[in-house]
Amino acid sequence: MTGSVRETWGSRAGFLLAAVGSAIGLGNIWRFPGEAYESGGGAFLIPWMVAILTAGIPLLILEYTIGHRSRKSGPSAFRSMSKNAEGIGWWQVAVAILLATFYASILAWAVSYTFFSVTASWGDEPGAYFTEFLNVSGEVYQFGEFNWGIFGALAGVWVVSLVIMAGGVRKGVELANKVCIPLLVVLFGALVVRAVTLPGALDGLNTFFTPDWNALGDYQVWVAAYGQVFFSLSIGMGTMIAYASYLRKKSELTMTATTAGLANASFELLAGIGVFAALGFMAYNSGGPVIDEQNPIVGGGLAFVTFPTILNEMPGTELFGFLFFGSLVVAGVSSLISMLIVPLASFQDRFGWDRKKTVLVIGIPMALVSLAVYPTRNGPMILDAVDQAVTPYGLVMAGLASIIAAFASGKIGRLASDANRYSILKLGAWWYAFLGITAVVLVYILLFNLVPDQIDWYLNPKEGNTLSPDQVLITWSVGAASILFGLVMGVVMRNKPVPQTDEDLENAEEEASA
Ligand code: TRP
Repeated sequence: MTGSVRETWGSRAGFLLAAVGSAIGLGNIWRFPGEAYESGGGAFLIPWMVAILTAGIPLLILEYTIGHRSRKSGPSAFRSMSKNAEGIGWWQVAVAILLATFYASILAWAVSYTFFSVTASWGDEPGAYFTEFLNVSGEVYQFGEFNWGIFGALAGVWVVSLVIMAGGVRKGVELANKVCIPLLVVLFGALVVRAVTLPGALDGLNTFFTPDWNALGDYQVWVAAYGQVFFSLSIGMGTMIAYASYLRKKSELTMTATTAGLANASFELLAGIGVFAALGFMAYNSGGPVIDEQNPIVGGGLAFVTFPTILNEMPGTELFGFLFFGSLVVAGVSSLISMLIVPLASFQDRFGWDRKKTVLVIGIPMALVSLAVYPTRNGPMILDAVDQAVTPYGLVMAGLASIIAAFASGKIGRLASDANRYSILKLGAWWYAFLGITAVVLVYILLFNLVPDQIDWYLNPKEGNTLSPDQVLITWSVGAASILFGLVMGVVMRNKPVPQTDEDLENAEEEASA
């Protein structure tokens, strides 16, 4: 027993805001419209909704219940399910470190562009400007050539997020989200209102909303939809386990998860509406189609090239540029802190460290690695490679592992009854069924899609592949390293007990009386 009581959220709304703040991020504003664009607009919406309802929300609920029941994060939470499962938590710690270190660097680009928008300094050729800004070299392994502007912005991102983390759950994370979410709604709302009133907006919206029934037979679209839902809802990495571990015992879980899921989806739709309206406006000006199949927009292009191009054509370029890039920053900060909570809370709970110590010993080295690797001329190439490791070998596989662990440990029924005690929406057979179906779908996606794609990029390098063979090797190395870290830590820690807390005593008493 430590004698100190675990921190908790200030209120149910505080937790919900943090969960929504985690979910809403670059994934919504940038990735979602990009995925929809690549899948042909309206083709994407139906698989996306199906994935939210059948996989996203059930898995959110699973993570909430694991964190809430054990009142622990990461490895300790998995351990309380089964001694054999602790490694999953460590694996997720490694994935979170991979994700946070590069996510921060994209935020640093958005911070730079927020400044650029004050004078619209991207000029008449945003494409060339972005190329010069990143100044990517052709050499994946050429480390150490820094872009100092991006370096400075990235240092700023890390200072702000680590200060928030040092503030703890209530005075750090919760407070930051109470500032970020309303600010985001105002900034982004203004932008969307502007976008939908532009000429040509309607054509863009038609492209976005017209369902393409044929595309439902295209499994690629389904894979894209599942990947998007995992990333966007922040599942598979233990973020929600950590956040839920700071809930009070008598907390509503299932309706809260559903609300968070739907709030995230609504914001995603809003972002889609804003971006497609703007694409419609661009098509109206150029006389071209909304989705240009000859000349598709890829990767960072949508946010950092297409958007400035569109902004140039409308009155108020600077103001709306500021709103757009400012939104990216605000949405991204509240997501970044939800990635940092995974390693930080995990070390606190497993080793009994205090908050300040974990920020010093884990947080600051993460910032240094991020600063050493990403704001460089080869950084963006490493980023693409690590990005391709995080979803398949992190979110999808670890998400799958947590479903398997929940069933295999025999504790899934207890998780459900724990949730049902205080929750409005009762978990029943449907929840088990959706989790089971999701597991099958994930195995299929991994075996027949994500992994074969990477093997193909490796064996058949050609123009238009997402990664070069060199990059694929990085993807596999970091993917393998994160899994290996999980395995090794699972074994090393196996006979080391978790420090007991007051909450454990409380849980035990409750268990005994139940
Ligand atoms: N959901 C966030 C976004 O849309 C990113 C994110 C935050 C995330 N925490 C996560 C993704 C945990 C996966 C796992 O940008």
